[in-house]
Amino acid sequence: FFSSNIMTKVNAYGDVENLVMTCEDWNLRWKKNQLDFHFSEVYDSLLKHEHLLLEKANCSVFVPLCGKSVDMKYLADKSHRVVGLEFSEIAIQDFFAEQNIKFTVEKHPSHPFNIYRSSDSAITIYQGDLFQFNSNVAGKFDAVWDRGSFCAMQPSQQNAYCDVIYQVLNPGSRYLLNTFIYDQTKYPGPPQHTTDKEISELFNGRYDVKILEVYENLKPLHMSWGLDSFQVRNVFLVKK
Ligand SMILES: C[S@@+](CC[C@H](N)C(=O)[O-])C[C@H]1O[C@@H](n2cnc3c(N)ncnc32)[C@H](O)[C@@H]1O
Repeated sequence: FFSSNIMTKVNAYGDVENLVMTCEDWNLRWKKNQLDFHFSEVYDSLLKHEHLLLEKANCSVFVPLCGKSVDMKYLADKSHRVVGLEFSEIAIQDFFAEQNIKFTVEKHPSHPFNIYRSSDSAITIYQGDLFQFNSNVAGKFDAVWDRGSFCAMQPSQQNAYCDVIYQVLNPGSRYLLNTFIYDQTKYPGPPQHTTDKEISELFNGRYDVKILEVYENLKPLHMSWGLDSFQVRNVFLVKK
């Protein structure tokens, strides 16, 4: 079967295969309010490791595939310049409404993005497709906070995703990445399960890579997916 919600297909052998979710598929999730991934509190891995990510004051922090993450407001309140990137206009408008932040919208003069900017300019969110984003759109960044973003990409998209992130970072930039470890024969994702080998193939060479921690984080949501273990891995990367 095919389902635009679950985005999986059972092949002729009875195996579950993943389909790539398009931007429109994600937008449909926003329209239907299917937002299991959204957290109303600042994400704990950010609180735990922000001292590594944001070593200095006034960093420019990129939040790819930001949804309506409250982490953006948290980082801006700490005087960092936050730049989010998100396809869904619903997500962006909800973010500003829920955080009670006034904003303006304009078209990017030369790239296919709308630019949503908080009235104090502390938070800018580019609305458009990550695969059209590059340093000509919004410059380069000192840090990346990647939660629910890399892991929203199918394996076939991960190389291209990593190329975009790499291209918009200054040398020495710090990158905090959340990945997940679970039995993907039981649940197809998203989020994707990511192996050690994949982490190494995608990031070694371009970054100094340090696995900060792996911990169990099984929640009722994951159990409802048929899982009995759901581990979070926090990876800290420094661009060479
Ligand atoms: C799993 S959600 C995570 C959102 C956010 N990072 C969080 O932690 O709550 C992934 C988000 O990426 C957005 N998205 C997916 N593919 C995208 C793309 N190619 N370009 C821009 N946004 C995309 C979706 O609309 C969705 O809001």
